[in-house]
Amino acid sequence: MTPTSERPTAPAILVGVDLGLPHFDAELEELGLLAQTAGLEPVARVTAKRRAPDAALFVGKGKADEIKALADQCGASEILFDQALSPAQQRNLERHMERPVNDRTLLILEIFAQRARSHEGKLQVELARLQYLSTRLVRRWSHLERQRGGIGARGGPGETQIELDRRMIGEAIKRTRERLVKVKKQRNTQRRQRERRDTFNISLVGYTNAGKSTLFNALVKARSYAADQLFATLDTTTRELYLGEAGRSVALSDTVGFIRDLPHSLIDAFQATLHEAAEADLLLHVVDAANPHHPEQIEEVQRVLEEIGAADVPQLLVFNKIDALPEGQRPRRLVDTMEVGGRQAPRVFTSAQSGRGLAELRGEIARVLAESRDARAPQASDARFDETPS
Ligand code: GTP
Repeated sequence: MTPTSERPTAPAILVGVDLGLPHFDAELEELGLLAQTAGLEPVARVTAKRRAPDAALFVGKGKADEIKALADQCGASEILFDQALSPAQQRNLERHMERPVNDRTLLILEIFAQRARSHEGKLQVELARLQYLSTRLVRRWSHLERQRGGIGARGGPGETQIELDRRMIGEAIKRTRERLVKVKKQRNTQRRQRERRDTFNISLVGYTNAGKSTLFNALVKARSYAADQLFATLDTTTRELYLGEAGRSVALSDTVGFIRDLPHSLIDAFQATLHEAAEADLLLHVVDAANPHHPEQIEEVQRVLEEIGAADVPQLLVFNKIDALPEGQRPRRLVDTMEVGGRQAPRVFTSAQSGRGLAELRGEIARVLAESRDARAPQASDARFDETPS
């Protein structure tokens, strides 16, 4: 795995606090992958168990001392927490550790900022960052206000500076929003043009790193970016996929990967991009079958799908990376069904890397397509694609 950025990797310590929540990642595997994707090198991992976070230092003073000593010893330039820190905790920890302390939310925002490629994607990430920053500033500001005796006791140079920062961020948010509205208008026009062609739209969704881009490439034989990094794809890419089995083309879109605790500002920011999934005729829900956490990842994807209004779109489950499964766990049949979101959905086992199961997947897509065509009145425009098979 290679980090995304060109800059040299900075050593970082990973910290996870087990607060008794079901999805606690004791190995901090995902945080490690996020760190590497953001261009950091995890040099040590520390976990702690607590009933509740410490209000001031999150992990408590004793553990914070221990982490600082370890950071000094390893020469770590940054500390990363798997859990979200409050602005006050982050500030206190930074002072205590004498180095930057970041949490998962910031890490994801950083990766999204590095990854966004389209104009709209960049604006969306910028907006999410500004919103994140503004909540931190607001909280800092109200904290100062409390110190001064609450509303009515205004004034002082510190407060003026914070007020100024707030206003600047507020203005930047407004400007970014206005620019986004313009870009979205253009995109809606493009979408309407697509709709007019009466295309059957398929969206690839799935937990980050499940192999969506690899599968997308294997299916359409395009060369879009695929890497063992999180969120290689941020902006939706759409290509035509010719299905010989059905004698017609469909539109296939790759979408941003989902992840546990995806910052809310990002879900909001990517609502428009994710909207593609909600408007699709079929979702290919790609699952990393070789990941031991895949059942929780399926649940997480379902949760996001509900949030973006895509829970009712028919799904086809694609259990990918079967080549990476131990011998005894490989499926005997490549096609079966599985319950997801309270409904039975067809499931195909694939290896996007070796190509195994791809013919079966195309066959299943063609079958769903035929069923949906039977359900609808025949469309004269169904044969409008004049693309040659690849
Ligand atoms: P995000 O952009 O984070 O959402 O990731 P993605 O779901 O698009 O995953 P991507 O296609 O970038 O693949 C992630 C990693 O899994 C890459 O290193 C791929 O080479 C690898 N991968 C994809 N498909 C397979 C597969 O069938 N088998 C194995 N062994 N690895 C695979």
